[in-house]
Amino acid sequence: MEFNKLEVSVRAAQVSQQIEEVLNTLVRGYDGIMAKLRLGGRKANYDDEAYEFIGGPKDNLRAKHYDKSLRLLWKAQEHTPWLPFRDCTNVERDMLDMAARSLTDEEKAARERISMPAYRAMLDAEYTQREKQAIVNILSAIGHGEAYAWLVSADLLNKVNSTGGRSALTMQVLEEAKHFIVLRELLQAFNVPIRRQSAWEYMLLESVHKSKGIEKFFGMNVVVESIALGFFGQMSEFPGLEVLRLFHLDEARHTALPCNYLKEFPLSRWQKLNPAARLRRLRLILPALALIPLLEEDMAELGIDAFVFGGSVIRKIGTLAERAGFDLPTSTETLFPQLNDLFNRYCKATRSNHQWRDFLGAEATTGERELAVEREIFDHSFAMDEPRISALH
Ligand SMILES: [Fe+2]
Ligand SMILES: [Fe+2]
Repeated sequence: MEFNKLEVSVRAAQVSQQIEEVLNTLVRGYDGIMAKLRLGGRKANYDDEAYEFIGGPKDNLRAKHYDKSLRLLWKAQEHTPWLPFRDCTNVERDMLDMAARSLTDEEKAARERISMPAYRAMLDAEYTQREKQAIVNILSAIGHGEAYAWLVSADLLNKVNSTGGRSALTMQVLEEAKHFIVLRELLQAFNVPIRRQSAWEYMLLESVHKSKGIEKFFGMNVVVESIALGFFGQMSEFPGLEVLRLFHLDEARHTALPCNYLKEFPLSRWQKLNPAARLRRLRLILPALALIPLLEEDMAELGIDAFVFGGSVIRKIGTLAERAGFDLPTSTETLFPQLNDLFNRYCKATRSNHQWRDFLGAEATTGERELAVEREIFDHSFAMDEPRISALH
């Protein structure tokens, strides 16, 4: 490439550079002193000289979360064509058209039927009004949780260190936004009232949103995401809800994020063990426990035992919390039998012929693929500090 060079004053260029150098020393020196005095300083958590965010590259986090999220990025237009999303690129649309051309006439007709009226007719054929209401009551609890997941991950984006950490959180923000808007449209298609947050959900999610700094990882990625993982893992085999399998994959990556991040930037001993933080974590879980009896009736309508579901989710929360280093006031070895006892006492008091069950040992997730994904996160047999989610490739 040949450029037509322009003439400039060498002297003027030198003066301009000298002014910049003096100003640079003053501005950065001033900010450095203010930062040391804890009176302010540079706001950006960014090291422009290294061309990195503070904390370094951490390519490991980028590869496990940003790269993988993009590899597994799914589009609502492809998976829920009856909803009003137009998020496929031209190439993806052409691919879908090509795939459609290879379908049999019967498959083509089935595909064309997936318009909104046809989707609603399918729901009406599959479910009674009460069952539709039960599905919406349960999934709207998660839907409101997705709103908070969007808020909290956006907050966390500015709390994490390193280029890899920020890229991981950026993908979570994008995925939570997608979860919120797609689930909202999906539930509206059921054409039954969508209920507000219960008091328990409100208390849980507000506490998560208000928790400080990296502690938000515990409330959101450990507690709330484990609950979401449970619901998506349980309901993705229901007719018309198959897209929840993709939500489940995304949430699986999100639950693995605290372990992967804290491996690079471990919690201090004080952050882990201080009694106030441990008590706050337990207090945060309590509203989630109260949700179990509240959702029992709706879950029973769909053949799901709320306490089996609750036991399974609480076990996953406890396992992830312990692995990430978010200690509770008691170890899970002590806590799980106590909760098992509590659940059984409640069931004995409220159910006829209740036989003692190991609720905390139960598995609520159904579906082979979902179980395979979860096995790789929760299986005790692999190295605790290396949550592989290769099933997500
Ligand atoms: Fe989500
Ligand atoms: Fe999530």
